[in-house]
Amino acid sequence: MALRAEHVYKIFGRRENEVVKRLRAGADPDDLKEMGTAAVIDASFEVASGEIFVVMGLSGSGKSTLIRTLNGLWKPSAGNIHIGDTDITKVSDKALRGIRRDHVSMVFQHFALLPHRTVRDNAAYALKEQGIGKTERLERADHWLGVVGLEGWGDRLPGQLSGGMQQRVGLARALAAETDILLMDEAFSALDPLIRGEMQDQLIELQSSLGKTIIFITHDLNEAMYVGDRIAVMRSGRIVQIGTAEQILTDPANDYVAKFTAEVDRSRVLTASSVMEPATAVITLSAGPRGAVNEMRQHQTSGVLVVDRDRRLLGYVTDDDAVAAVKSDQKELKPLLRKDALVSVTGSTPVAELFAPSSESPVPLVVTDDDGRLRGVVPRVGLLASMAPRDTAPASSEPADVETLAEPSAGDLEGGDAS
Ligand SMILES: Nc1ncnc2c1ncn2[C@@H]1O[C@H](COP(=O)(O)OP(=O)(O)OP(=O)(O)O)[C@@H](O)[C@H]1O
Ligand SMILES: [Mg+2]
Repeated sequence: MALRAEHVYKIFGRRENEVVKRLRAGADPDDLKEMGTAAVIDASFEVASGEIFVVMGLSGSGKSTLIRTLNGLWKPSAGNIHIGDTDITKVSDKALRGIRRDHVSMVFQHFALLPHRTVRDNAAYALKEQGIGKTERLERADHWLGVVGLEGWGDRLPGQLSGGMQQRVGLARALAAETDILLMDEAFSALDPLIRGEMQDQLIELQSSLGKTIIFITHDLNEAMYVGDRIAVMRSGRIVQIGTAEQILTDPANDYVAKFTAEVDRSRVLTASSVMEPATAVITLSAGPRGAVNEMRQHQTSGVLVVDRDRRLLGYVTDDDAVAAVKSDQKELKPLLRKDALVSVTGSTPVAELFAPSSESPVPLVVTDDDGRLRGVVPRVGLLASMAPRDTAPASSEPADVETLAEPSAGDLEGGDAS
């Protein structure tokens, strides 16, 4: 665990404690406005080391306020915040500054650059406090300016740069501090789409190569879902849902979250494992051609998947081949096995990559684990249905007559939910 917030409240106004007390008793924040603005209400969550945790929500929902309580820039009105083993709500100001200097850097929503210092000095800003000598400071600043695409701009003043470039200076400054936790408040919002995409990729790269823990605020759900391991959705000061992109897309906690997700490019976010279904027409070699025919008749399919005893996928058999074998009294299934046009993917393959292969194959697209074991299938209709937002998607439960035929085997249940 890198960071933990426990029942954090932040009230702006004269009577913080009274507002907290009433909110805890169930009062409506709108009725307490005279006493104070409840910017963050009862926020609890944990961020794992090395995780990218995204906070999103409409303007005014409390994102900036929340993130500023996490590094102690705002003292919460109530609640606790742990960074590593330290409860930062309980330490002295001096100790808090030390934690910020050594462990948590922040990219501010409005850049917060020093206007009369050069870009290089701005990027090196945190390093002086860390007690790093001048030569190394400037070297490191130049390095990180290069990483964010600002090589050669070090001698300019921030005012000579565009908004997007200034934002990247802020980013370089936070990265140069080389802290384990990085707080980013709308850090990419002023960037044009091309650079924004590059910075998103770079962030993911940094996270995985340096193992940084990143808390990332954005308005943009596509960005949230792309960079985030988990996403917290805020509404009017409260966290209304925390989950992975897939969980939020497929199971939004309420209409507010569902409305957000309506805009999302689902094909990029959903993966094969979120749209797969248990494989029903599956046999082992011992079933023989007759067993294959029976299985296909039962499931009204024209092909059947064949697995070994460990549910490793061997191939498939078509109805034509199986019927011909039964007619000629052939007992062996093995000679009928086909592999052509059989497409198998892993559970983490984005749905966008499934469309092309799924159109050709006589058997559904197959999802296997790393050991080649069958986890499920993605029928084309499931693929298409997954693209529709929740309310307009067909109900996921099948008609009863189909369900009774499609009883998953014990193997389906074992292998079906491996991740
Ligand atoms: N310093 C402050 N004093 C008083 N009220 C504040 C202060 N900062 C924020 N607020 C109020 O707290 C609420 C949450 O603001 P916050 O800036 O955290 O929202 P946000 O989600 O970051 O919005 P945005 O997406 O526009 O940046 C708002 O109602 C805002 O008016
Ligand atoms: Mg904000």
